[in-house]
Order: sequence, then structure tokens, then C-alpha cells
Amino acid sequence: MKYDFETSRPRFGMEAMKWDEMGNQPEDVVPLSVADMELLSPPEIIEELKKTAEFGMWGYTWWGKRYGEAMRHWMSTRHNWEIDPSWIVQLNGVVQGLYAAVRAFSNPGDGVLIVTPVYYPFYRAIRLNGREVIESPLRLVDGRYEVDFEDFEEKVKKAKIFLLCNPHNPVGRVWTEEELRRMGDICLKNNVLVVSDEIHFDLIMPGHKHTVYATLGKEYADHCIVCSAASKTFSLAALCVGNALIPNEELRKAFDAEVNVSGCYTYSIFGIRALETGYTKCAEWVDQLVEHVWGNYCYFKEFMAKNFPKVWIADMEGTYLAWFDCSCFGLPGEELAKYLREEAHLFFDDGYIFGEAGDGFERINLACTRATLEKALDRFKSAMEKL
Ligand SMILES: Cc1ncc(COP(=O)(O)O)c(C=O)c1O
Repeated sequence: MKYDFETSRPRFGMEAMKWDEMGNQPEDVVPLSVADMELLSPPEIIEELKKTAEFGMWGYTWWGKRYGEAMRHWMSTRHNWEIDPSWIVQLNGVVQGLYAAVRAFSNPGDGVLIVTPVYYPFYRAIRLNGREVIESPLRLVDGRYEVDFEDFEEKVKKAKIFLLCNPHNPVGRVWTEEELRRMGDICLKNNVLVVSDEIHFDLIMPGHKHTVYATLGKEYADHCIVCSAASKTFSLAALCVGNALIPNEELRKAFDAEVNVSGCYTYSIFGIRALETGYTKCAEWVDQLVEHVWGNYCYFKEFMAKNFPKVWIADMEGTYLAWFDCSCFGLPGEELAKYLREEAHLFFDDGYIFGEAGDGFERINLACTRATLEKALDRFKSAMEKL
């Protein structure tokens, strides 16, 4: 490989959330929880950020022509989506966009639909804004998570908004065009706005194809908000840059007004420059990253099949997060998590935080070096064999 996916650094002392959450751990313990990467960002981005730092003056900033062009280029070349940069509403991150959309397009007490288990801030965006969570649990059909369309159609009637996770964190589904269209048609029929969180859209594993919700057709594009970011793709979460892309002008104005109400009006030049560089110079790096993550997933699957054949692992069609069922070990979710931490120094994300349907599962972050993964799995083996 041309790029380096075997160098990593302990992030103690870098105010890194997931590292600090571990407390004091030996240097070789790497958390495989929160979805950021234990890998270096592309060298092109590191160079650009050095230049930006050396400039030495960083006043109030917003995105400009260069940014709009980079967004246009990436969406067109990677996602077959022809955007007009005027559709962009800049955000500090996608989660901010979810919160703003919930406030802009529903009233307190209204229902907001999610399919679960799902990335836990989806619950918070709804609950903390005083709206009601309406859950439609995913079904496991022949070892694959699917939307329960009958249930979805029933539940959507009580909702104003559907928060779609596309691809889906934590179960790793890359929704097919057909599935998206079916969800979209139900939402259109019931006048429910689709807010599509596509933050993982560049992390698509071999044999799968991502469909941006808005590319389904004009009618779908006109009734949706697509949230995207470069942060998962290039490991830029600390640079706080995200986007909402809203083709419909009326929706865009309402959303923009809500973002303004929260007092956000300036953005990080570091985030802006990093996105521009990633989207114009780092396509090959992303291809290789996906290859590396896929290699880690295959290693993980083989390891489990050999040592713990009763552990079921969901097919990781997208994201760099593998979802696996640990219920065969016979420990309730919280106890299992405690055991993994205390006995094995393993920090995954515990399934129950993604909703009731996730209890007994764990989510492992595979955006790490192979050496890190090997060490973590060896510790997993030793701990689980003691049970
Ligand atoms: C589905 C999903 N949406 C949003 C985020 C976070 O977005 P941001 O950091 O841009 O707020 C994550 C991070 O894990 C995620 O998995």
C-alpha cells in the first residue's frame, strides 16, 4: 500500500474523549470504542494543516468558493450526486444538524421515528428537544438486519420526522436503493421529513454501494435533509466541520434559521481546509483505508470463527464498526462490559447504549492498526476463556 495504516500513537494527554474515558491504562491498551480512527490522517491533510497553522492568523471564518467546489467535486465523483454548493448549510458537526432538524421541523411532543438499535445521539436529539422517540426495531432475517416495513409504516403515522442512518451505525447495513426508496415512499405518503445522516458514506465495503438518499429522485430530494461530514472518512472529528445539504430552498431557510438561533456563525479554518484537501486530493487514500479496514474485519471474523464460533458477527457492509453478539457468554450487557474492561482492558461500545435491541452485543472499532487489533483480540480470548 502507498499509504501508512500501520502507524498509531497513544492519545493520552491529547484530550481525546475515548482515551480519557479509559482512565489509567498501560500504553499498549487502545480503546476500540468511539468512532474515530486510531490511524494517521492522510499526509496531504497533515501538510495543509501545517501550512494553515504556520500562517499564524486565524480570525473569524466561514466556508467559501474553494470549499463549495471541493464538496461539489466529492459528491459528484464519489457519490454520483450533482449538488449546487448553495445547498450547503455549514455545521460544527452532524449531530448539531440532527438536533437542529428536530427543532426546525417538529414541535415539542411530536413523534420522531428511528429504526433501532441506532447511534445513541439519535435518541438524545429527540428527547433533549422534548419530542417523542418512536422506535421501529430492525429485524434479523437470515442473518441480516432489515427494516420491518409493516411496523415502519404503522409507526411513521405518528411521526413528523424520520431520522435515517445511512449507512446504519451500529449494525453496519448499507441500505440498498430499493430499501431506501421503500422507506422514502412511506415517508412521502405520510408527509414525514427524512433527515438522512450519511456521515459514514465513504466507508463502504467491497460488494456494496452507497446511495445518497437525495439521489433517489426529485420528489425525495425535495423532502429531505442530508447531513454529511469528512470527519469519519479522514479522522477529523476534533476539527468540528460538518454539512447539511438541502436542495429544497424553503426547508434550507427554515433549517438555517434554526442553526442561527443557536448562535453558531463561525467555523474552524482547520476543519474547512482539511475537508477541501481530503475531498480534492485524498480519494486514493480513502480507497486504501477501506481496503485496510476490510482486512481488519476479515481478520476479526476469522479469529472469532476459530476461537468463539458461537459469536455471531453482523456483515459489516459499511462503516468501520463491527457489531457482534456476545450473548453466548451468558453475562447481561452491563456486566459483560465491566468484565471486558476490568479483566481484559478492552474498551468497546456496549450494545445496550444503542437501545434495548442492542443488549448483549458489542461494537468494535476496526479503524486501527492490525497490530492493535491482534493485541486486543488476544486479550479478549484470554479473558473469555476464563469465564
Ligand atoms: C451515525 C453518526 N452520526 C454522527 C456522528 C457524529 O457526527 P459529528 O461528530 O459530526 O457530530 C457519528 C459518530 O460516531 C455517527 O456514527
